[in-house]
Amino acid sequence: MADVPHESGTGTPRTTEVPEALVDCHHRLRKVTALAVALGQGPAAPAEEIRDVVSKVHKYFTVALPLHEEDEDRSLFPRLLEAAPELAPTIALLRADHHRLAPPVAALVALCGQLQGGQELPSQLAGALAATAQAVAASWQDHLAIEERELFPAARRLSSAVRTVIAEEMRARRAHLPA
Ligand SMILES: [Fe+2]
Ligand SMILES: [Fe+2]
Repeated sequence: MADVPHESGTGTPRTTEVPEALVDCHHRLRKVTALAVALGQGPAAPAEEIRDVVSKVHKYFTVALPLHEEDEDRSLFPRLLEAAPELAPTIALLRADHHRLAPPVAALVALCGQLQGGQELPSQLAGALAATAQAVAASWQDHLAIEERELFPAARRLSSAVRTVIAEEMRARRAHLPA
């Protein structure tokens, strides 16, 4: 199976196969939202930690997640619809989710933009960060679970050739990213 490059900077192991690369992106969503909640709810953190977490969260939701949605919408879903047309209603729901779940993400990205470069996390913004990150994690929970339960097992049953094509498309989408 061809390797798929990944967006670095979110502190999780990289995987290189399809659908494992997609699963890894879900794990990173859970991880960066948990980091943001912990930062927002914890004791005052040093400036370096604030910058690190805010940067990871911002990068994940502005770079990694849009690419992941494109991987699914343009590479995975069409192949699954061909191989397993009975998944059509689920895939339609998941496609709609990618739009429906955008507003909480936009709110978190806006907040991270506000916090980027800051030396401290005022208590009001800390509370907002924790609440916004919790809202994102909660709103995406079912979406991720449905894909992991119903779609990714079907993706594993795609032929090796089809999965290689998906991996190549994913790599092409990331060709412009810094190493
Ligand atoms: Fe998705
Ligand atoms: Fe996904």
